[in-house]
Amino acid sequence: MAGRGMMPEAPMADNFTVQVAADYEQMSELAADAVSAAIEANPATVLTLPTGETPRGMYHELVSRIVDGRLDFSGVRFFCLDEYLGAAIDDEASLTGWLREVFLEPASIPAANTHLIPSTAAEPAAAAAAYDREIIDAGGFDLAVVGIGRNGHVAFNEPGSPPDSRTRVIDLTAASREQNAAYHDGRQMIPARAMTVGLGTILESRSIILIASGEGKADILRQALEGPITSDVPASHLRTAGARLRVIADAAAVSRLAG
Ligand code: PGA
Repeated sequence: MAGRGMMPEAPMADNFTVQVAADYEQMSELAADAVSAAIEANPATVLTLPTGETPRGMYHELVSRIVDGRLDFSGVRFFCLDEYLGAAIDDEASLTGWLREVFLEPASIPAANTHLIPSTAAEPAAAAAAYDREIIDAGGFDLAVVGIGRNGHVAFNEPGSPPDSRTRVIDLTAASREQNAAYHDGRQMIPARAMTVGLGTILESRSIILIASGEGKADILRQALEGPITSDVPASHLRTAGARLRVIADAAAVSRLAG
């Protein structure tokens, strides 16, 4: 991963690692292995994990490890990454509701260890700042696992998001709303705004794992990993984490990387 296309003054960002999985199942297993290893090394890991189709297999694997006692998640402090503004956990489109169904409930994650995005707060800006303080008080993220949107977003840091951004309300792009409407067979209206943990907080994580799967992510992954580092492609900022960034992607997702 040489720094092709980078301006000379751009941060050196060539030393992230890319682990190529044969397929979705192997990507999911490698991502679960990385999360497990972090927790085994530090049972009080401060962790954030993404929602979406990409991490579904990782969650499936984590749930089975937790349920059969191979992984002790009881000391992990877990923070959600993003949620639609105004969405409550029981709303059909809720990302937190998705997370509850796919992970929190089947793995019996204690509510006391789980920090939910304050998406229904009466004063979202103040609540977002309070959420950032919770992350800081916990010591910051030890591990952030993130996905990449087809428009390059990370969590809901949409194109234009600066690398020092914090938890805030953001207008969703049409592309993101369309992508996420697909999870609901297009039937569900996706809200126009969301609250997301900022890129700055993600970039400060002691370790970052970017997961990507499938041909549909090949172009944007190439832009993020080999194009210019720019807020037009928020995921490109992840490269500034250098060796703290590990990409776990399947062969289809890396198929357009130059090398
Ligand atoms: P996906 O979403 O895993 O459903 O592709 C990733 C994202 O938009 O961040």
